[in-house]
Amino acid sequence: MAGKYLLVGPASEELGRKICEKTGRELLESEFKVFPDGETKVTIKKKVLDCDVLIVQSTYPPVDRHLIQLFFAAHYLSQEGARVTAIIPYLAYSRQDKEFLPGEVVSIGVVAHLLRSAGVKRVVTVDIHSAEAMAHFSFPIFSVSAIPYLATYVKEKKLVENPIVVAPDFGASKRNEVFSRLVGGEMIQLSKKRDRVTGEVKIVSSKLKLEGRDAVIVDDIISTGGTVSEAASLLYKKGARNVIACCTHPLMVEGAEEKLRAAGVKSIVGTNTVLSKYSFVDVSDAIVSHLRTIDE
Ligand code: R5P
Repeated sequence: MAGKYLLVGPASEELGRKICEKTGRELLESEFKVFPDGETKVTIKKKVLDCDVLIVQSTYPPVDRHLIQLFFAAHYLSQEGARVTAIIPYLAYSRQDKEFLPGEVVSIGVVAHLLRSAGVKRVVTVDIHSAEAMAHFSFPIFSVSAIPYLATYVKEKKLVENPIVVAPDFGASKRNEVFSRLVGGEMIQLSKKRDRVTGEVKIVSSKLKLEGRDAVIVDDIISTGGTVSEAASLLYKKGARNVIACCTHPLMVEGAEEKLRAAGVKSIVGTNTVLSKYSFVDVSDAIVSHLRTIDE
């Protein structure tokens, strides 16, 4: 390879720079501009023929703008002869990994296709929503886990005591098993039903005895906060003393914070895959450790 570079996208300034420093790559200068009508323009002046380029760009809201910035940069670099790896800390649209209701577009399949068309050779992401989402990629994709880093933070900050770790639904149970092993508590799984038309969430579980216990709800995403606030209310009804919430991707949209506080959630801990006031946990080491295994 003629050179190894890293391009920091506008959605991942801080995380991108950390990864750049830790990998010892040269920063690839770029300019991202948004015109008054909302169009995006990307400029990259360096010649990158035969170079290896990592682009770090998350795709939290504004989702489509962040995606377009990634597509434009990747397309230009691959056309200029670079081998492009997209590091997408939060991979948007992963939840729409199937046609839940007739006629729905499988969004993550389209995103995978567009990334490939833009010349991306491989993707590295963090805690992708599901294995189903990953299956839509016809080229290499790897999801690293932020769970050990979240668990370490919760332990070090002593946010809970002898906690019960709570998976709000079946999809979250694998991640929660790992989290509970690391914090040293047992795990329970609740049952979640989401109305596919209204988006409303209902969480149930019959035989829960939590008198005086601390609980940690661990999910991949907190978006509107519906899932975690429903789960927290149920846990308090069953006798929990303190409930905190951890997630990899703290999107925190539509008044999520107020919802969680109203449900009695004492702390909200997220990572820097998303830029938010809850991004306490850094995932750069998780990403860099994986890059070391694939970097020739
Ligand atoms: C869905 O299955 C995900 O794992 C999360 O539970 C969900 O995206 C959270 O969304 P919200 O905060 O809007 O309930």
